[in-house]
Amino acid sequence: MKETNVKPATGKLGVLVVGLGAVSSTFITGVLMTRKGLSKPVGSMTQYDKIRVGRGAEKKYLPYNEIVPIADLNDIVFGAWDVYPQNAYESAINCEVLKEKDINPVKDELVKIVPMKAAFDKNYASRLDGDNVKTVKDRWDMTEQIREDIRNFKKETGVERVVVLWAASTEVYVPVNEKVHNTLADLEAAMKADDKENIAPSMCYAYAALAEGAPFIMGAPNTTVDIPAMWELSEKTGMPISGKDFKTGQTLVKSGFAPIIGTRCLGLNGWFSTNILGNRDGLVLDEPANFRTKEVSKLSTLESILVPEEQPDLYGANCGGEGNDHNGYYHKVRINYYPPRNDNKEGWDNIDIFGWMGYPMQIKINFLCRDSILAAPLCLDLVLLSDLAARDGRYGIQRFLSFFLKSPMHDYTKDEVPVNHLFQQYVMLKNAIREMGGYPADETID
Ligand SMILES: NC(=O)c1ccc[n+]([C@@H]2O[C@H](COP(=O)([O-])OP(=O)(O)OC[C@H]3O[C@@H](n4cnc5c(N)ncnc54)[C@H](O)[C@@H]3O)[C@@H](O)[C@H]2O)c1
Repeated sequence: MKETNVKPATGKLGVLVVGLGAVSSTFITGVLMTRKGLSKPVGSMTQYDKIRVGRGAEKKYLPYNEIVPIADLNDIVFGAWDVYPQNAYESAINCEVLKEKDINPVKDELVKIVPMKAAFDKNYASRLDGDNVKTVKDRWDMTEQIREDIRNFKKETGVERVVVLWAASTEVYVPVNEKVHNTLADLEAAMKADDKENIAPSMCYAYAALAEGAPFIMGAPNTTVDIPAMWELSEKTGMPISGKDFKTGQTLVKSGFAPIIGTRCLGLNGWFSTNILGNRDGLVLDEPANFRTKEVSKLSTLESILVPEEQPDLYGANCGGEGNDHNGYYHKVRINYYPPRNDNKEGWDNIDIFGWMGYPMQIKINFLCRDSILAAPLCLDLVLLSDLAARDGRYGIQRFLSFFLKSPMHDYTKDEVPVNHLFQQYVMLKNAIREMGGYPADETID
């Protein structure tokens, strides 16, 4: 490895997950199994991808950990919070994502991961009724209690650094309120005034993490760190933040497939996406207020790849059909709770495109995926790369992590647009790794 300015990954890395459900238990079990040499971390960029550095005779393709100091899987120590008291072993068994044969070899380690009491408010996820919940005076006290949990975890485990990852349920939609969410002072005042409407529990976790010097990752579509007040806090404490919403199944396909239409200058009349899934995530998302948060996130993907204003003939006002109240093509996303499928989500996409002289064609995509199997490697990569970014002194929104996220954060107050195009995101990811490793950035796709 070349000399870099990134601090080395010495000591242990604490990974505190909010929510010990299907995604988290699959992620944790997979890391523990991999450590024992009993499984492979398939889908993880930090464990498999190779990036070209140098050109001509100097050209080499190196794995990430030969370019930058990434924490070793053996150095990770897990902890969690959840509304339900089940430990990571019970959760992995109950979620039925993995077979028992893939869980039992690490049972001893999993049973020791017992969730701390959750900072929870039923109004944010009404379908959950666990009782492993903190008693709090107000939102400020909620935040203080989470901070104490983080400090205790550090003391008890001796970890040198901590990353906090939200893999808990999607909260109800919290619109950005300029009076509360624009400055850190206003956000803190609202927490102290116990403003339950504008301060979601997830904001308390994020505040606590950043204040305790831990990067924070938002794996659900929640508003949480997507507000200027949190950007201010992350700058103040010098910590990276990223979000929102793991880009796993349908949106991964969408952000990889839409560029085919865009780069060949084909037109789009409409894109109808529907899903069935039957895990607890599906149950929570069956509630309209929680689905709204997801819908906003899922819809945003196409808008920055196929832009109506830039190509009005192909994606503009007349493309979406009669009675269409959209500005351009018609884009609809649905999620239906369907228990028989559990974690095995099925997504259908019907894409109505048009070609030469406006002649219509259709594309159908049917993805029979496994939600948590797709999300687990993203958890690992987001955790390791956020820890890396912190050691490089990077703070605020980490745009290079957009690759992993459905609705990537960006500074909307400065009219910055999100990058949703999968291959542009990949270039951003590779360049950040190159830069941290002391190599020049590069636009070549290889
Ligand atoms: N799996 C995917 O493909 C995917 C993709 C994108 C986003 N996500 C998001 O990841 C999150 C986790 O998904 P999952 O399938 O593991 O869901 P899950 O329902 O199995 O697990 C979520 C857990 O979070 C807990 N929880 C809820 N509120 C909490 C709080 N305030 N504090 C602590 N714990 C809390 C719940 O009790 C539950 O055990 C969801 O928000 C989901 O929308 C998943």
